[in-house]
Amino acid sequence: MKRIMVTGALGQIGCDLVAKLRKIYGEEAVLATDIRQIDHEIVQSGYFRILDVTDSTAFYEVAREHRADTIIHLAALLSAKAESDPALAWHLNISGLLSGLETARALSCQYFTPSSIAAFGANTPKNSTPQDTLQRPLTMYGVSKVAGELLCDYYYHKYGVDTRGLRFPGLISHSAPPGGGTTDYAVEMYEAAIRNGNYTSYINKETYLDMMYMPDAIDAVIALMEADSSKLKHRNAFNVTAMSIDPEKIAESIRRHIPEFTLHYDIDPVRQAIAEEWPDSIDATAAREEWGFDVQYDLNRMTDDMLSKLKGKLQAEHSRIG
Ligand code: SER
Repeated sequence: MKRIMVTGALGQIGCDLVAKLRKIYGEEAVLATDIRQIDHEIVQSGYFRILDVTDSTAFYEVAREHRADTIIHLAALLSAKAESDPALAWHLNISGLLSGLETARALSCQYFTPSSIAAFGANTPKNSTPQDTLQRPLTMYGVSKVAGELLCDYYYHKYGVDTRGLRFPGLISHSAPPGGGTTDYAVEMYEAAIRNGNYTSYINKETYLDMMYMPDAIDAVIALMEADSSKLKHRNAFNVTAMSIDPEKIAESIRRHIPEFTLHYDIDPVRQAIAEEWPDSIDATAAREEWGFDVQYDLNRMTDDMLSKLKGKLQAEHSRIG
């Protein structure tokens, strides 16, 4: 039986991933950890521990007590937040990662951590960005992601730790909000469409970025962790994507349900510069060939599901208040 420990479990990916892992591997098998504790299903439905991932002794102890054989390390600062405090971003993203890798080495755990489209830079090919290419990002988040990919490779080659990773695009979901990212605008647009019928985007039109719906991202993590190790030529980290879109494309898709939806722009120069450094579309061929990566949701299918789930959430909120 698998014994899984997840860090950053109350973040945007963690909430959905922990729920799915508990469904597949059993509630007892999955320990959720985070630096904060909030009133959330993840905390109530199974094991939960407070953990500061930069405390390497605590990381090791919590994993040992859970008898973890798998670590999914999600705790990190995202791109926009990282630009506002680069030293903290380096500390959390790299010291946290190292604590996890050392724990995985000591306890012989399989190890997953996400990388990002932020691991590419302005001189990386912008379209169909290859799996193996130039990676010279200028953001602290990107720098920490490239260093993280290399560290995970290092622990595999030097110590035989079974490290695996995905370069996630912007992830769109409805159950937990993203925090401090550049691609958060996409999630915000869906919420705003339901609540107000309009949205002001801080990312400009014609700024194309890769995106993916959370259920596909969660399935990709699980498929990669279950993949036959001998078939993996790349480990840290695979390009994955479902769509390449700009704000106008999302607005068009929303208007199929809410025809009066309007989109305005008030560009944030910091996040716009970050977005412009990232690829327009990445190539996920290696992930498809090496472990069968696939997605269920294109833009319109994702929009249909997002709007219906968010409407349900809003109705539930209203009936609680009313
Ligand atoms: N979604 C992330 C961000 O915007 C990219 O990995 O920071």
